[in-house]
Amino acid sequence: MAFDVSSVRKDFPILDQMVHDKPLVYLDNGATTQKPQTVIDALDHYYKVDNSNVHRGAHTLSDRATIAFEDARKTVQRFINAEHAEEVIWTRGTTESINIVAQSYGSAFIKKDDVILVSAMEHHANIVPWQMLCERSGAILKAIPVLESGDLDMAAFNELIKGNVKFVSLVHVSNALGTVNPVAEVIEKSHAVGAKVLIDGAQAVAHFPVDVQALDADFYVFSGHKVFGPTGIGCLYGKKALMDVMPPVQGGGEMIEKVSFAGTTYQGLPFKFEAGTPNIAGAIALDAGLKYVMNLDRDAMAAYEDELLQYAHEKAAQCEGMKVIGTAKEKAGVLSFLIEGTHPADVGMLLDQQGVAVRTGHHCAMPIMDQFCIPGTARASFSIYNTKADVDALFNALEKVKMFLL
Ligand code: ALA
Repeated sequence: MAFDVSSVRKDFPILDQMVHDKPLVYLDNGATTQKPQTVIDALDHYYKVDNSNVHRGAHTLSDRATIAFEDARKTVQRFINAEHAEEVIWTRGTTESINIVAQSYGSAFIKKDDVILVSAMEHHANIVPWQMLCERSGAILKAIPVLESGDLDMAAFNELIKGNVKFVSLVHVSNALGTVNPVAEVIEKSHAVGAKVLIDGAQAVAHFPVDVQALDADFYVFSGHKVFGPTGIGCLYGKKALMDVMPPVQGGGEMIEKVSFAGTTYQGLPFKFEAGTPNIAGAIALDAGLKYVMNLDRDAMAAYEDELLQYAHEKAAQCEGMKVIGTAKEKAGVLSFLIEGTHPADVGMLLDQQGVAVRTGHHCAMPIMDQFCIPGTARASFSIYNTKADVDALFNALEKVKMFLL
């Protein structure tokens, strides 16, 4: 089945609008994706018809909300092929998911002088929680270098991965460069020395299917809003055997079994990591977003996106003064670039004047910007509803930007 982009576009009402009197060309999908009508309808339906608290009420609305909320967890389980639904923890997003692992697994199992590996291309959300853990525990954070192409330096990784490494936390797809990392190989080699592995899938899950069991990932995290769901909801997947022995991070309602001043006992998975009223509407709407993707032909979708990115790279090669940052062998969704003699912030502003939305700056990945000795880039990031016409619009607009700035 071919991928029918025009039919997909019709499902995203926001795309059909003018910005500065120009048709919107939305190329900021790395920051957040747009939402299909089914997600908007799910939010609307929940608040209009089912709104109630979960796991608590003795009434019909609460039952409905609880069933929909737990069904959403099962949808996530299917989406990433987790073995058990309770291996899926609801969080606010990727950042919170990583922080929970760093705090919980870290406090229980990471000790002084243990080494934690991340890569030089990580988002700040996959650096700072580990730095904080190192400050608390005396563990040592090391960064796997990144080559000029934006590929992970696997020769350096092979040197670094030794018995003193207890944890590896690696991005699946770099938000700044678009690099798709060889996570299966990293996981296998990390396990061989006894290290656990977290994969930051925030930029991956909207582009290609992920199977946490096939990868043998110990933890896999992502945000709902980057995969067509709402903001404020995300997931932490962790292997049951690991999360069963990890301590809770936040205390409160939902996560307890029995509370007394003599001592409190906790619930099992997934609730011990879900203190307080969760983002019920967010989970239910994310369910709709994930079902939207799962109902597409995922292979055709990935092939379509690859072709689109390839086309953008071809246009970039012909664009005078453009330097692409990130030319790894395997890429997904991202064209990060500089235009010689211009500042990315000016480029972004002038693109916006022409209806083209991109992100500019360091993309919350300052260390990799430092490595390239640049303050930031302009970044076009693509999704399932973008077209070659969008890429053409970007490059036509860039010609006008150059005329204005150079
Ligand atoms: N991390 C998101 C991005 O890359 C916000 O834009």
